[in-house]
Amino acid sequence: MLPVPTVPLLCPVCRSPLGAAGVAARTLVCPAGHSFDAARQGYFNFLVGKGTVFEADAADMVAARFDFLSAGHYRPLAEAVAEVAAPALAGAFTGSGARVLDAGTGTGHYLRTLLDRFPAAAVGLDISKFALRRAARMNPEAVNLVGDVWQPLPLADGAVDVVTVVFAPRNAAEFARILRPGGRLVVVTPRPGHLAEVSGQTGMLGIEPAKEERLAAALEGHFSPLAARNLDLDLSLGPADVANLALMGPAGHHLDRAALASLAAGLPPLTAVSARFRISVFEPLRHAAA
Ligand SMILES: C[S@@+](CC[C@H](N)C(=O)[O-])C[C@H]1O[C@@H](n2cnc3c(N)ncnc32)[C@H](O)[C@@H]1O
Ligand SMILES: [Zn+2]
Repeated sequence: MLPVPTVPLLCPVCRSPLGAAGVAARTLVCPAGHSFDAARQGYFNFLVGKGTVFEADAADMVAARFDFLSAGHYRPLAEAVAEVAAPALAGAFTGSGARVLDAGTGTGHYLRTLLDRFPAAAVGLDISKFALRRAARMNPEAVNLVGDVWQPLPLADGAVDVVTVVFAPRNAAEFARILRPGGRLVVVTPRPGHLAEVSGQTGMLGIEPAKEERLAAALEGHFSPLAARNLDLDLSLGPADVANLALMGPAGHHLDRAALASLAAGLPPLTAVSARFRISVFEPLRHAAA
């Protein structure tokens, strides 16, 4: 039985409200008759039309992220994100409880930690169906959608109290539209020096400088910054963890798998790696009604 969506969803074809139908709520249908059946694993594919040109994370990249996150290395980050999101979820005034969108949810680990602390109605969105297969299993109580964050989001105006975005793309205008007034956008980005010890040798992409300034600039006009905090983790990683770390990032699209495997085989039993994160919180700006 899939959860009946309690976050107001919109049809990705015609933007009318979507409701659950069919046996065990495995179909979402709009009044115009557009319908979306759940995949076997329980997620819905909302990719319609041409969409953005993109390179979705491949199955082995998603598997690497799943293994790395399941080992708990980034657990303190997940806890911190849940903690930062908590006040806005607690202050939900939607009448039907707190609601959250995890954009670029990946394997769903961050949303899982948040829901364990705060049982909210949740949507997990990601463009990779390989990721969504995992996320749907990880968060069966959430509505898990394959969709493109650069397209109009399939959620109603003011539908959620919190949007979380952990290392994933940010569509400022759409996030602002779907957040309720007083809601919160929680964004996690890497800081300079993130994974510096291994990024050179494994061919991972280095962090681009001025990322933080670019984040604020990209959200300008839609959000005002409220608070931010840094989180540093000193990790001690075995060879398999280092290989997973390399593969799960954006460089995973281009990495030579065989070269990575032989590099991992030559690593010491443990490698010291520092993870440097920034957790930024934004509030949507109020615009005069259009
Ligand atoms: C680095 S991963 C982070 C995943 C997850 N938040 C985490 O931290 O484990 C980036 C995620 O963004 C997703 N993504 C990339 N472009 C996207 C888009 N246009 N729309 C939705 N998701 C996208 C990828 O499929 C991937 O799962
Ligand atoms: Zn429709």
